[in-house]
Parts: sequence; structure tokens; C-alpha cells
Amino acid sequence: MASLNFPLRTPRLALRPHREADVDWLYRVYSRPDVSRYLLDEPSSLEDAQKRISERIPRDDLDGGHGSLSLVIEREHLPIGDVLLWFTDREHRVAEIGWVLDPDHGGQGFATEAARAVLDLAFSHYRVHRVAAQMDARNAASAKLACMAGMHREAHLRQDWWSKGEWTDTVIFGKLASD
Ligand SMILES: CC(C)(COP(=O)(O)OP(=O)(O)OC[C@H]1O[C@@H](n2cnc3c(N)ncnc32)[C@H](O)[C@@H]1OP(=O)(O)O)[C@@H](O)C(=O)NCCC(=O)NCCS
Repeated sequence: MASLNFPLRTPRLALRPHREADVDWLYRVYSRPDVSRYLLDEPSSLEDAQKRISERIPRDDLDGGHGSLSLVIEREHLPIGDVLLWFTDREHRVAEIGWVLDPDHGGQGFATEAARAVLDLAFSHYRVHRVAAQMDARNAASAKLACMAGMHREAHLRQDWWSKGEWTDTVIFGKLASD
């Protein structure tokens, strides 16, 4: 399979792998309680952000050793978020996608645009069979994004996940190569 040429371009954005210098924006964004509210982790410390960056830098190819692709979303050379794609079943090419956007750049469709590009990549370049997105059922912005990116709402699991001191519901979206 041909290797990808970074940055990947969409009409308004560039998507590229992570690098060391991303620790600053990553810390700024992931340390915000409004960003981490529905994520699995608590707001990030600087140490968490450094660890996260070193884990993400080598994740630059879904078919690489880590089975994952972590891309920074850039708008006019400014990092504004990330989109992650990873195999949950590598043998059968089933993957999951996740996204985070700096709220200062929210509400303009940037996260949707980046998610669409990564879904396209999953199906057209990586020949993935299915991509799922899972989220806290209260995360309306994320559910809306999944819909706008062409994913289908498939399931609502009741109190399946203990998160931050309470049982939470999970909503699952999916998109198939054949959709
Ligand atoms: C989930 C998250 C990425 C969504 O961010 P967002 O800013 O709502 O998403 P987008 O950038 O796609 O913007 C969508 C909004 O832009 C509007 N929009 C404007 N131009 C648009 C365009 N060209 N295309 C699509 N939407 C557009 C949409 O109508 C929508 O508006 P609304 O929020 O008023 O309904 C963000 O809330 C986030 O990072 N949350 C914290 C982390 C998180 O929970 N991640 C998900 C874990 S599962």
C-alpha cells in the first residue's frame, strides 16, 4: 500500500502526525474541564500531555506497528484539535475513530471536516470494513458530528460504563465501507 503524503489537505484544514512541539496546545486543550468532561480521562496535567504526545508520535500509520493513526488538525498552520483512528480488530479491518477540537475553534464545522477526511482515508486508502465511534450519550456535540460525518447511530447502551464516579450511557455510531 502506498504511504500517505502528509499533510493531508481538506478545503480548510491540514492533517498531519503529531510532533514534540504539539505538547503546548495539547496541554492547553486537554487540561480544559469542558473538553475532558465526556472523555475517559480527567483534565490533563502537563505530564499527561507529554506522555500522550510521546505515545502519539509513532502512531502515524493505521497499518504500522501500533495499528493507529493520530492526526493533528491544523487551521492556517495553527493546531486546533486531533482525530484518531485505531484498529479494534486488525485481522478483520475494523477500526474506531475519536476526535477533539479546541473549543475556541468550535462551531464552524472543522471537526466534521477532519472526521470526514479520516473516514474517507479509512475506507479508500486503508480498506477498512467498518469504523465505529463511541461516546457518552450526553455528548450531543460529538453525536451531531458523527451524524454530519455520515455515520449511523446504531446503539444506545444503558449504564454500561462507570466513568468519573457514575454509571454512564454509551451511544455507538458506525459506518461501513459499503454504506
Ligand atoms: C465533539 C467536538 C469535536 C465537536 O466540536 P464542534 O465544534 O461542535 O464540531 P464541528 O467543528 O464539526 O462544528 C459543528 C458546528 O459547526 C456548524 N457548522 C458551520 N459550518 C459548518 C460546515 N461547513 N460543516 C459542518 N458544520 C458546520 C454546525 O452546524 C455545528 O454547529 P452547532 O454546534 O451550532 O450545532 C467538540 O465538542 C469537542 O472536542 N468536545 C470535547 C472532546 C470530546 O468530547 N470528544 C468526543 C469524544 S467521543
